[in-house]
Amino acid sequence: MIVSASVPGIRAAVAPLRERGPVGFVPTMGALHEGHLSLVRIARKEARSVVVSIFVNPLQFAPAEDLATYPRTLDADLDLLRAEGVDAVFTPRAETFYPPDFSTTVAVAGVSEGEEGAVRPGHFAGVATVVAKLFLAVGPDVAVFGRKDLQQAAVISRMVRDLDFPVRLVIAPISREEDGLARSSRNIRLSAEERRRAAAFPKALFEAAGRIGKGEPAESVAARVREGLEREGFGVDYAELVEPATMKKVSEKVPGAVLAAAVRLGNIRLLDNVSIEGER
Ligand code: PAJ
Repeated sequence: MIVSASVPGIRAAVAPLRERGPVGFVPTMGALHEGHLSLVRIARKEARSVVVSIFVNPLQFAPAEDLATYPRTLDADLDLLRAEGVDAVFTPRAETFYPPDFSTTVAVAGVSEGEEGAVRPGHFAGVATVVAKLFLAVGPDVAVFGRKDLQQAAVISRMVRDLDFPVRLVIAPISREEDGLARSSRNIRLSAEERRRAAAFPKALFEAAGRIGKGEPAESVAARVREGLEREGFGVDYAELVEPATMKKVSEKVPGAVLAAAVRLGNIRLLDNVSIEGER
């Protein structure tokens, strides 16, 4: 497994892989867990070789957010990727990937503005910009993203279409813990008590998505979810039914609609979403 921190280095590593067939790519911020590895396995099925990036992207964190405390476990991450048979890993360094006078931003209007974008202004411009840079550095044929970050997948899909990136996107199902909590690098920062309580979040979403799927009005079901979660001690940033490609709010059952939510438990934000047609 080749590990490179430079753009020329990863390009040189990927060039011979491309000779062998399609290149798959999984961008990550590290602190890898089973959810990330499920993406790697999908990339392996969809392509001949697999490249992973590990980069805690400062551009997508607001000043008050957890950039400094975001978990970093590079050695363990590389061991996991080696065990998955990953071909190359790109580990750029912020200082060189973003020179001091870095001036370019990829901003995806509309789809990035509600939900997460409303709570975290500038976040998706940081995500779109880094993913554009990563795509240009790696040059994958296929890239795999998780549905866990529903709006991120929508933003990247729109960027790829709008800018004609020659890459096919695959959106992977949510990998969950035994109790239903969506896996996330941030889960390890929940206290034992918070971790126990966190399972109420996916449980509420599954229950509510089922109700909407049976025809109950989305707005009142979502309002009850918000109230219920607040009663259980969660801070609710949003919980609403959306059309996943556009992230536009929908008020009734439409095919493909997804109940998407973000909550806070202590200092940790949890994201999740459940399709009204059940988990795919
Ligand atoms: P990160 O949070 O490390 O996630 C990397 C990829 O793993 C994303 O596509 C995310 O949706 C996916 N993922 C995370 N948890 C998952 C789970 N439980 N099930 C399925 N997929 C899951 O998302 C980012 O990093 C960054 O924003 C990035 C795209 C790398 C740009 O910096």
